[in-house]
Amino acid sequence: MPAPVRTSFIHLFAYLSAIGLAALVAACSGADEFAQGAPDPALADAAYGELTGDPRAGARLFAMCQACHSLEPGVMRAGPSLHGVVGREAGSMAGFAYSDANAGATHVWTGEELFAFLAAPRDYMPGTRMAFYGIADPQQRADLIAFLDQSGE
Ligand code: HEC
Repeated sequence: MPAPVRTSFIHLFAYLSAIGLAALVAACSGADEFAQGAPDPALADAAYGELTGDPRAGARLFAMCQACHSLEPGVMRAGPSLHGVVGREAGSMAGFAYSDANAGATHVWTGEELFAFLAAPRDYMPGTRMAFYGIADPQQRADLIAFLDQSGE
């Protein structure tokens, strides 16, 4: 019975093309996502003062922090509460056992300081126990700081 065999070959061919197409679509949309996530080259060296942070975008970005940080005053996780962190002295959250590096830092967490720190925490503060690689996109850092700034209100 040759006819059914031929039909099943056609089905197999259609099936394989569908898989190929799906893989192609997945690869393309993956590339798109990457393009969106990558910092805009024109902004890569943007200074904090040149950017306007969007706190609503920052609220979504805070998902990267909340496994280790609460915004509730006094709630410590792996990291100290970030309640009111903008304008707070580094290493000053009572009840949190900081590393020597963080405890010994005497600066105030201004927007500029946070902007530099969050780009590469371990370069900015050698010896920090904060196991976080940093956020390359300056606009995302500005968004997050705008959100954190509201957490003290
Ligand atoms: C894997 C856990 C982890 C993640 C994720 C994390 N942190 Fe931290 N963070 C810590 C720890 C632990 C410390 C205390 C470091 C020390 O004592 O050396 C810290 C300290 C800090 C400090 C200094 C606080 C102070 O009182 O001086 C800031 C600011 C901060 N983190 C912001 C952030 C932000 C914003 C994010 C998200 C983008 C983030 N962290 C993500 C664990 C984390």
